[in-house]
Amino acid sequence: MNAATAVYSRITGTGGYLPQQCVTNAQLAQRVDTSDEWIVTRTGIRERHFAAAGELASDLALRASERALAAAGVSPAEIGLIVVATTTPDVVFPSTACILQRKLGAAGGAAYDIQAVCSGFVYALAQADLAVRAGHCRHALVVGAEVYSRVLDWNDRSTCVLFGDGAGAVVLSAADAPGVLSSHLHADGSHAGILGVPARIDQGRIEGSPFLTMDGNAVFRFAVRVLADVAHEALAANDLQPGDVDWLIPHQANIRIIEATAKKLGLPMARVVVTVDRHANTSAASIPLALDEAVRDGRIRSGQHVLLEGVGGGFTWGAVLLRWH
Ligand code: ACO
Repeated sequence: MNAATAVYSRITGTGGYLPQQCVTNAQLAQRVDTSDEWIVTRTGIRERHFAAAGELASDLALRASERALAAAGVSPAEIGLIVVATTTPDVVFPSTACILQRKLGAAGGAAYDIQAVCSGFVYALAQADLAVRAGHCRHALVVGAEVYSRVLDWNDRSTCVLFGDGAGAVVLSAADAPGVLSSHLHADGSHAGILGVPARIDQGRIEGSPFLTMDGNAVFRFAVRVLADVAHEALAANDLQPGDVDWLIPHQANIRIIEATAKKLGLPMARVVVTVDRHANTSAASIPLALDEAVRDGRIRSGQHVLLEGVGGGFTWGAVLLRWH
């Protein structure tokens, strides 16, 4: 089959990468006025990885992409589209996707970034699915890559303990049976004020704070509501019930948000993939990292329904429902 006859897309390979430096809550507590007990109780986070000085989103993306390409048995030259979801790009421009394309040695296809914060991977996967199904390319590389350690305010203990760095990637390929069953994307810019990095570059100066700011309680309430709503929307679109979900892979922000979402859907936690304890919140990278883990350890098996869903600054939210091949 060639791309022109593709009706569906499916994930043919996954990959993940975490930077070498792993920082436990106890180690953070030497730097910030906090404790392992406070962080674990409020968030479920026990440790996170931080990129080394000079290690950029495209570096993490490269490692994750190489693993996804190897798993798919696809060479960089066969990739017709690269979409990188990131809120912490290497530079203002060129896009991290173009930088990644150069590092992969895969020139020629399309490459661009998507900026939808923690929903970025779900947005990117939905866009790549459309491109593959429309015959624009036979193989797309979809990546979530973040270095949130660069935008954390170490004087704000209510945010700096929550995030980590990492990258996850998938190869999405043309297929004659679905893979991606449906995608559902939403945004409501009127909630922009509860989570952001408000800085902008103006005449050579940075105007506004270049650090992450958040109203944690407002984010919590918003996230639980829309994650349950969009899960129901995705299931209804496919005539499925929550009980038909074999694996829920939500954005990994906080175990309490994940547990509250699972409870609202009536899903046992045994069917939810959780990495937040070891990765913390890696924003656009969290879903592909969790997916990669559950694929590689054999939890996700052929024929199963896998529901990916994210929510993040903007506010943005969305879901992609998969039938695993
Ligand atoms: N260590 C110790 N104490 C802390 C810390 C810390 N790291 N951070 C805050 N505190 C203190 C506060 O100062 C406050 O003290 P006070 O009562 O003396 O003033 C106390 O803990 C309680 O603060 P709250 O903000 O009310 O704590 P809460 O129980 O609401 O938990 C949290 C805060 C964990 C941020 C919670 O609101 C939350 O989970 N929100 C969701 C936010 C989130 O996950 N965002 C991720 C990014 S968004 C996304 O990915 C979608």
